[in-house]
Amino acid sequence: MYILGIETSCDETAASIIKADSRGKLVVLTNVISSQIAIHQKYGGVIPEVAAREHILNILPVINEALEQAKIKPSKLDLIAVTKGPGLITSLIVGFETAKTLAYAWKKPLLGLNHIEGHIYSNFINPVRPIKFPALVLTVSGGHTNLVLMLGHNKYKIIGETLDDAAGEAYDKGAKMLGLGYPGGPIIAKLAAEYAKSGQKSTLIFPRPMLSAKNFDFSFSGLKTSLLYQLQKDKNWKKRINEYCFAYQEAIIDILVKKTLKAASKYQIKTILLSGGVSANQTLRQRFCDSLDKKTHFLVPDLQYTTDNAAMIAAAAYFRWQNQVSKRGKNLQVDANSKLS
Ligand code: KG4
Ligand code: ZN
Repeated sequence: MYILGIETSCDETAASIIKADSRGKLVVLTNVISSQIAIHQKYGGVIPEVAAREHILNILPVINEALEQAKIKPSKLDLIAVTKGPGLITSLIVGFETAKTLAYAWKKPLLGLNHIEGHIYSNFINPVRPIKFPALVLTVSGGHTNLVLMLGHNKYKIIGETLDDAAGEAYDKGAKMLGLGYPGGPIIAKLAAEYAKSGQKSTLIFPRPMLSAKNFDFSFSGLKTSLLYQLQKDKNWKKRINEYCFAYQEAIIDILVKKTLKAASKYQIKTILLSGGVSANQTLRQRFCDSLDKKTHFLVPDLQYTTDNAAMIAAAAYFRWQNQVSKRGKNLQVDANSKLS
């Protein structure tokens, strides 16, 4: 079957067409992303109204490009899948209303997907090894930090989430304080790697909030405040900027890895999956590889599917279609509930 995926939950206008066979093998025919990073960079973060206006300009050209690149006529599509939440409401509306209109005009079924579910399924696009259940998914992006227990396809339970900032937000806000621009993750990661390569030992200390808590929730706002206070006290921080990036990132990664491993042990997890923009981080990936025994499968999405994209939405739609929706017939209504259930 051919699925058109559409994603506009934040600042990327994305459309993708995937081909899925009956055994769940997914081939991404095209993955078009129009990024607004350059536009939001001057504000140091995403401005919702600006993002929505850009989506309005980009959505149809991006969908057309996806169809042209994949050499697929709309009549050949079997399903349209769109992100219905969570995200910036003004951004979501553009993708959602466009998908609804196209589904009506082209007489295609439409499926609304949860954005986090999309990130989870980025791991199911050409996985390098089998994904055995129960699996544990650490979804870390600019808007979310969740530990999701996955008992099977479309069977999720959120066992931990951030009580304040998301991990990506900690990177972005930290980078803003350090005058490094947006998005902060890749820049902090680069400077931290330079510091690690220098072989020096950092004397900076950052807190690891919630690490000893009995639950699997996260908190990053104290870490951010700690960076602010340390910068205020240190007149020479600009000369130590790589060291600040290193120590700050170490705290974020330490929290993410230790909490995930603790949950994996409690739930006797067979596969650990990472997803979301922060999962592009090489140090985070390596830390998991170094910490896990060979019994636990560890998978990460291909880099192009870590940050927001529509291939992951189409992939999630395929599995939901197979598991639940096909049983309800093709008269599909858009699900009004955007919760991950
Ligand atoms: O998944 P995503 O594109 O958007 C949301 O759903 O929020 O994630 C974007 C986030 C940003 O916070 C960005 O700083 C972070 O992912 N990010 C990274 C890296 N690349 C992107 N964080 C750490 N290391 C990276 N290499
Ligand atoms: Zn995302």
